[in-house]
Amino acid sequence: MKNTYLNVWLFMFLIGIHYDSLSQTQLLIPDTLSGKNFNLELKESTHEFYPGVNTKTMGANGNVLGPTLFLEKGDSVNMVVVNRLKDTTTIHWHGLHVSSENDGGPHTFILPNSTWQPSFKVLDHAATYWYHPHLHHKTDLHTSKGISGFIIVRDQDEQKLTLPRTYGVDDFPMVIQTKDFDTNKQIVHHSNTDDVVMVNATIDPFLDVPSQVVRYRLLNGSSQRVFNLGLSSGQKMYQIATDGGLLDKPVEITRLLLGPGERTEILIDFSEYKGQSVYLKSYASGIPSGIYGASSPGMGPGMSLTGYSPNVLNGADFNIIEFKVGATGANPVLTIPKALVSLDPISTSNVNITRNLTLSPATMGMNQLNGDFLINNRSFDLNHIDYTIPLNNVEIWSIRNNSGIAHPFHIHDVQFFLIDRNGTAVTGAEKGRKDVVLINPMETVRFVTKFEDFADSTVPYMFHCHMLTHEDGGMMGQFVVVGNSTNAIKGINTGSLNVFPNPSNGIFRLVSDLNNKNYETIVTSADGKQIIEKTFHSNVNEIEIDLSYQAYGIYVLTVITDNDITNFKLIKN
Ligand code: C2O
Ligand code: CU
Ligand code: CU
Repeated sequence: MKNTYLNVWLFMFLIGIHYDSLSQTQLLIPDTLSGKNFNLELKESTHEFYPGVNTKTMGANGNVLGPTLFLEKGDSVNMVVVNRLKDTTTIHWHGLHVSSENDGGPHTFILPNSTWQPSFKVLDHAATYWYHPHLHHKTDLHTSKGISGFIIVRDQDEQKLTLPRTYGVDDFPMVIQTKDFDTNKQIVHHSNTDDVVMVNATIDPFLDVPSQVVRYRLLNGSSQRVFNLGLSSGQKMYQIATDGGLLDKPVEITRLLLGPGERTEILIDFSEYKGQSVYLKSYASGIPSGIYGASSPGMGPGMSLTGYSPNVLNGADFNIIEFKVGATGANPVLTIPKALVSLDPISTSNVNITRNLTLSPATMGMNQLNGDFLINNRSFDLNHIDYTIPLNNVEIWSIRNNSGIAHPFHIHDVQFFLIDRNGTAVTGAEKGRKDVVLINPMETVRFVTKFEDFADSTVPYMFHCHMLTHEDGGMMGQFVVVGNSTNAIKGINTGSLNVFPNPSNGIFRLVSDLNNKNYETIVTSADGKQIIEKTFHSNVNEIEIDLSYQAYGIYVLTVITDNDITNFKLIKN
């Protein structure tokens, strides 16, 4: 085998084909879905990351990744998510402001071969969001194997601006990820040996771009790695958006630190680069110690992380993608706009409460990076609510990182405005709407946010570290928003099946009228464990489900007949 490759390579070399053109692959641009009804089918498949090698993957509507969903602000949309995986999962709309029931957090799981149908109104600003699985302990597994997709929200403020917005022509989504492949080229999750870089599931990609202003929507979809983005040409990039919206004006930058879960939109002016190649690179040599991606992931040089070294990417400058600049296209955008939108940050003068959070290692000391991490000295518990927040509260969250590594802190439900880092007011693009913020070791970051629109005392929202190994290891907490909102839980009644009372403090009754069909009932706890399984005959039309000995929280009751599966959310309180 080796010899054949060598000979092919030698042959290429002799006839003058550059090695790069042999290995490079054109960037995959995800398909798009738009309108008001969206169907996603999650499935297991294989993908050729390496030519001729089938790597086991998971994807939505395809082998890997998922389609880009275009949403219009103000639309009411219906999602149909069918889970054809062998595993329970969830789908979370990262960054979107939706009710907790529709958010797809770890409580809202989708059993194998069943369907989840959230509906919500798009309330968000035009920006780049994403969706990914969120089952507790399995977020990294399902995401690393390939499930994640872009959500592009459009609105009228964005539409008024002269910005590139033709998808795949002058407006490109790019999810940057690093993964670990074993010797059989299978993906290894929960690994610190993520030495393969890819963009949109394409290893060593190139993209033909026109010589004009081009817009990139960048998502760091890596399980752990932080990138320090920059261009090989030394050109400026113009940052126009953060996680949850456009900025008030473009911010000129040459480097951009992007942590897991974060998004940004940048403009690059290629007008002067026709016929040339420009590389988007990660200048990881410029990443300070104490950030996953630097040569030393811990604050102290003695803090090691199993599998982290050697890894060619750590602390090194490496290529992410090559842009081959061609001719100017039709209707090109040729200038960088001077102004964008008005930001309307949330004022800190009417704050209801400041909450202090701490991030810390589960075990102190030099080996801490190999252990789990805690928020407020707790590990995640699906049945523990960390904060009960009154609807419409304006809050400052002050988050202190007492560990030796930086954590990308993420909160569901809201976008926030950063106030300061260790007391120094944030500047530039850090003033934009955010839902993930990278918090350095020994740093305190404060943000202000408002918990509006959605209250639901039973289904919590999450906050967590977006390093998926840390999240799966329990670096997560949850809050409920309480008060009167238009979003109270509806009575559950699905055709011929009915569950009552719900919520209940222990005994639930399932009443069925299944017309001489046998049916099976399964009750699953929020961490995906099956706790009750029983088959009933058609003559039994009222059964009791006894959860008195189970913990408080949310369960899923699945009723299966020959041709139908129905899920009920049971709330034990
Ligand atoms: Cu992108 Cu709670 O996650
Ligand atoms: Cu999220
Ligand atoms: Cu973390």
